[in-house]
Amino acid sequence: MNPNRNLVTLDEFTIMQTRQFSQATGELSTLLRDIGLACKFINKQVNKAGLADILGAQGAVNVQGEEQMKLDVFADEVLINVLKNSSDCAGIASEENDHFVAFDDEHSKNSKYVVLFDPLDGSSNIDVNASIGTIFCIYKRVSPLGQVCTEADFLQKGRNIMAAGYVIYGSSTMLVYATRLGVNGFTLEPSIGEFCLSHKDMKCPEKGKIYSINQGNWSKYDDHIRNYLNFCMESDQETSRPYSHRYIGSMVADMHRTLIKGGIFLYPADKSNANGKLRLLYECNPMSYLIEMAGGMSTNGHDSILNLQPTELHQRVPVFIGSKQMVEQLQSMLS
Ligand code: AHG
Ligand code: MN
Ligand code: MN
Repeated sequence: MNPNRNLVTLDEFTIMQTRQFSQATGELSTLLRDIGLACKFINKQVNKAGLADILGAQGAVNVQGEEQMKLDVFADEVLINVLKNSSDCAGIASEENDHFVAFDDEHSKNSKYVVLFDPLDGSSNIDVNASIGTIFCIYKRVSPLGQVCTEADFLQKGRNIMAAGYVIYGSSTMLVYATRLGVNGFTLEPSIGEFCLSHKDMKCPEKGKIYSINQGNWSKYDDHIRNYLNFCMESDQETSRPYSHRYIGSMVADMHRTLIKGGIFLYPADKSNANGKLRLLYECNPMSYLIEMAGGMSTNGHDSILNLQPTELHQRVPVFIGSKQMVEQLQSMLS
């Protein structure tokens, strides 16, 4: 019998890419596989979220005497556990933890990489069954091997990212990741429990017709942002305006659409939040790296997000990200 091998799994794909480089050791492939594994556990739990009241609400105790966890905490713990057991991760930093976690066993002390993540993005959408996600990025550590990793390993510019991506728990579950070699998307094939290559060499269109922002914050935005939003709503046949407005409120879901269809996603500073809401290390850097590798662009209004030197783990930053021409247009209106 001739096995139908049209499907390429995430693991097979990353190994094939590694083979193109004689110096590559395959450690990144292992890490991506492990992140994929953690996200399959998270996916299983996300799929059951609507049954929380039946299976036991958050805080309730189940038949095994275990307390039911909030989904963000569950996702955080799964990622930490899987990465701790991984052969190539020296430590992690996560939106859910005040401090980074350095893995202190002998093997981890000699591991080259650190992983940063937002374990569950868009958590306010869980209750309404809208798409949510996990965002991650991987850096080579800067501290010496043989010791536990340090904060400096995590406070690196987005430019130094080795790989970044997200998993979207949506109408299907997808893992999309970027390296210098490009951006590729893998859809979870439930019958074999594997992420399989479905979106090869993804490119963000140069221009799109959608702007994505929490426009309810209008009264808190400054005049530059309001001018830009007026521009988006104005009619102009040549530039296909007015643009459509779409906002899910899950960065992963809004960015997945932006990557595929083109458009611009904005989370600006406002009167109540001088630096906006989104976190540089766990949300903006990974998404900016991915969108740049797909030909798009990302800025805080002045500089490329990837050029910002982080000063603290949970730092927030205004972000404007998406189709290159649209971000350039916005940037020209902000100065
Ligand atoms: P998280 O669930 O990880 O805290 O992130 C939520 C974020 C992001 O996903 C989304 O783009 C943004 O919050 C939405 O914020 P607003 O509700 O203020 O628009
Ligand atoms: Mn988030
Ligand atoms: Mn989160």
